[in-house]
Amino acid sequence: MKLKYLMFASVLSWLPVTSAVASGQVEVLHWWTSSGEAKSVKVLKQMMEQQHHSWKDFAVAGGGGESAMTVLKMRAVSGNPPTAAQLKGHDIQEWGRLGFLTSLDDVAQQERWDHVLPPVVAKIMKYKGHYVAVPINVHRVNWLWVNPQVLNAAGVKVPTTLDAFFVVADKVKAAGFIALAHGGQPWQDATLFESIALAVLGSADYHKAFVDLDMAVINSDKMVAVFRQFKRMKAYIDPESKGRHWNATTEMVINGQAAMQFMGDWAKGEFAQANKQAGKDYLCVPAPGTQNQFTFNIDSLAFFKLKGTEVDNIAQYDLAQTLLTPSFQRIFNLNKGSIPVRLDMDMTAFDQCALDSMQAFKQASLSGDLVPSFSQNLATTADVQSAIVDVVSEFFNQADPDPKLAPPRLARAIKSAI
Ligand code: GAL
Repeated sequence: MKLKYLMFASVLSWLPVTSAVASGQVEVLHWWTSSGEAKSVKVLKQMMEQQHHSWKDFAVAGGGGESAMTVLKMRAVSGNPPTAAQLKGHDIQEWGRLGFLTSLDDVAQQERWDHVLPPVVAKIMKYKGHYVAVPINVHRVNWLWVNPQVLNAAGVKVPTTLDAFFVVADKVKAAGFIALAHGGQPWQDATLFESIALAVLGSADYHKAFVDLDMAVINSDKMVAVFRQFKRMKAYIDPESKGRHWNATTEMVINGQAAMQFMGDWAKGEFAQANKQAGKDYLCVPAPGTQNQFTFNIDSLAFFKLKGTEVDNIAQYDLAQTLLTPSFQRIFNLNKGSIPVRLDMDMTAFDQCALDSMQAFKQASLSGDLVPSFSQNLATTADVQSAIVDVVSEFFNQADPDPKLAPPRLARAIKSAI
């Protein structure tokens, strides 16, 4: 018999006889607060409520999740963790090591997660071979979001290489538009840098640098070339960029103030919320020079050991189960801009951006061009990631940074964080 119902039976034995269903509460920590993101979370809330559980929203604003992680640590250390929290990549291992996470093996076996998930994804969700987290989606980070009307007005075509990008950006600027919509926050600086690094280094050296932390690539002439191209981007950003949130930045592309934005495909959720159509009102194209490559970001919820009542354990079980159901995967990812993480999904309702992403994901996993995103916490530990982000962002915010000095600085910062 399904574990859930064994537990359910034991709960029923002490519930009043009139109560027909076990109603627990789930509290979920996340940082999905933009309009597209909030719409996606609402789907989960509704699905939990349909199962008679109540939803306690624990949203901590701030793209990239830095503030959310600070709040989560405070809650966990004070012995009061939420039911589940948005945790990614190496962070899952870290929380597992600290003993905070609960095993989801029962629901995983029941729902055959090992069969429906790509092995590369399943591995990230397990701590010492046990599922402790559930993946929700696959985001592609190396996208360029384009307003075609702005490009038309400037008389240029979508750039497919970095060289072409700079030619296009010059013309867009000359035509009186902001060429590059960019939000000046450290994680967004890192997101831009990451796509340039992918293009300039290629997938193999990207992997060596940001996953293997190979100093021969980190402190190399190739890395100088990455910083050189990164620096050139500064010329196309508006002076009000500092501190701007990613979704306010996407808004500039939506309303035709700016031509292009480098951002993961959560940006698509904003276009959708503004009733814009992919392929007509906006274009999603691979970041210049990264046509067949794929930097992946996988959102997942990690599940905490609870001190609560048994009904809350049932609610926790139901939450874990719901996340990988085809119906949740479909509706959530349609709103979020990502693609489903299940391998067996019917993709008919999805738009061209999602179909392109799915195709690129499959192709890149065969060709060795599927690499984890460091800007989104998938490639390395939180400490190394923040060392990289600090160096990258500090470089980008200098008036006239020297690209030759950046790689040795990067190497030093990474060494001290390992
Ligand atoms: C990422 C997260 C995405 C998206 C983005 C902006 O860290 O994985 O799902 O929400 O932040 O908030």
